[in-house]
Amino acid sequence: MIGPALKGVYDRRSPEWVMNMILNPDGMLKEDPIAKALLKEYNNAVMLNQNLSEEDARAIVEYLRTL
Ligand code: HEM
Repeated sequence: MIGPALKGVYDRRSPEWVMNMILNPDGMLKEDPIAKALLKEYNNAVMLNQNLSEEDARAIVEYLRTL
């Protein structure tokens, strides 16, 4: 496992936050306090930007609700 398991992610994060993490992980890891803490927790393993479209990201945000 590289990153956090995403089941139940909305118990701890808002859909907007997750959307930002999917679309702009680089910016989040630099500026968002929660993302910065996760980076530390996961031994500085950087979540890479997958260059997804907003539409794809939205579909993933919805999918994560079903886990
Ligand atoms: C479309 C694909 C991906 C989605 C939807 C996604 C989603 C997320 C979300 C929502 C978080 C925050 C989890 C939380 O708050 O508990 C997260 C964190 C993280 N993800 Fe991803 N992720 C993706 C791809 C990747 C890839 C490809 C990697 C590694 C190669 C990765 C590595 C990480 C790591 C290590 C973290 C913790 C923050 C950090 O250390 O950078 N993710 N991811």
